[in-house]
Amino acid sequence: MTTVIKGGTIVTADLTYKADVKVDGGKIVEIGPNLSGDTVLDATGCYVMPGGIDPHVHLEMPFMGTYSADDFESGTRAGLAGGTTMVVDFCLPAPDQSLLEALTMWDNKTSRATADYSFHMAITGWNERIFDEMKVIVQEKGINTFKHFMAYKGALMVNDDEMFASFQRCAELGALPLVHAENGDVVASMTAKLLAEGNDGPEAHAYSRPPEVEGEATNRAIMLADMAGVPLYVVHTSCEQAHEAIRRARQKGMRVYGEPLIQHLTLDESEYFNKDWDHAARRVMSPPFRNKQHQDSLWAGLQSGSLSVVATDHCAFTTEQKRFGVGNFAKIPNGTGGLEDRLPMLWTYGVMTGRLTMNEFVAVTSTNIAKILNIYPKKGAVLVGADADLVVWDPKRSKTISAETQQSSIDYNVFEGKQVTGLPRFTLTRGYVAIEEDTVKTREGHGQFVKREPFTAVNKALSTWKELVAPRKVERTGIPATGV
Ligand code: URP
Ligand code: ZN
Ligand code: ZN
Ligand code: ZN
Repeated sequence: MTTVIKGGTIVTADLTYKADVKVDGGKIVEIGPNLSGDTVLDATGCYVMPGGIDPHVHLEMPFMGTYSADDFESGTRAGLAGGTTMVVDFCLPAPDQSLLEALTMWDNKTSRATADYSFHMAITGWNERIFDEMKVIVQEKGINTFKHFMAYKGALMVNDDEMFASFQRCAELGALPLVHAENGDVVASMTAKLLAEGNDGPEAHAYSRPPEVEGEATNRAIMLADMAGVPLYVVHTSCEQAHEAIRRARQKGMRVYGEPLIQHLTLDESEYFNKDWDHAARRVMSPPFRNKQHQDSLWAGLQSGSLSVVATDHCAFTTEQKRFGVGNFAKIPNGTGGLEDRLPMLWTYGVMTGRLTMNEFVAVTSTNIAKILNIYPKKGAVLVGADADLVVWDPKRSKTISAETQQSSIDYNVFEGKQVTGLPRFTLTRGYVAIEEDTVKTREGHGQFVKREPFTAVNKALSTWKELVAPRKVERTGIPATGV
């Protein structure tokens, strides 16, 4: 059974051209004019693009005394409804838990996934077993990324010695370290001070983690990665201070990637000063939303290429869960949703405003991350042989974002009331038409795990690198006797 997407304009990260796309057995089998097939999808007036890849989601994740509300079924369904055909979730072992045991637990959550997925493995402690297991994770389990939390002290946070050891291990294994870059010690100290002074509302969350906290940690992680000789991926880059560190590193030739979120690009810190406690608490996430100058910096980074990927960090909690933090902002579960809205929001606020070209849109929502994760061109491409993870994008369809009509299982939407233009006409996951305009036909269990092979890319930019890897020992003629 073949499907032909007919009459559309193909938009990839580097080309825009008119052609039909033929799909068979879940793959793209032909691209060209006047194709025919068993089923025809009318793409007249539409752009045919690689489906979005969201490399940063937390589905059914145990966190801050609860579980994030969207699971692999509702999360991937929300993704498909918004044109996202693959997600990468984070496997979070407890500090003394075996990585492999945690991976089995995470695997068990995915049986109802409606779109393809993969995992990043978090390093939340350090010991010999973790060192050994990292090799199995990379060489046998198809996971080539390790996440490090520099914040959430007393829970997920790792110290510099642990992080540096893990970075060096990543370098040996051909894996890419990821960091949540905020100085967790400073956040803990500022949080305690704010609470002691009676600042317990959601607005204090933003004061507890200013941009400097993120800039410092981003710089530190970059320097550690450089010393370890490994590339680095910085998740949820939200501010100029972090962007500046990434820009500088890249200018020196280092492979450092920054990932702004659609939330940070389009929502600002004024949300925390809303008089309604629920409104503000629903937007509590780390790092927090920033002011307009930081937003401009992130948009500029996407334009110039100093920032590489737009993600969501989809980590949705219900209003009821957010209320765990009434009287103490530090207990509000951190996280916001966005999986369904990332593409329409970025199209509306990025492409339609002229900030991004259509090709840049494809690059930052799909192709760049496929390359970074080493799954290109299986994913992130409109090429013969690639998976038929495709979105037929109708630039004229519009809607007002509302919790009433969303796929996510939470009771609100941080983008509520935003008018977006540019929505999927069809979303295909490995050839299966899961979304046809407002009709959701997702299939539970259709989603498959995507294996990712190790990298050969290293980070050899700075002059210190070689000496650190191969120290030069001085043969001395006279060594003084010890002690007198
Ligand atoms: O506030 C956030 N970002 N919650 C999800 C966990 C994380 O830090 O990415
Ligand atoms: Zn994070
Ligand atoms: Zn409100
Ligand atoms: Zn996250």
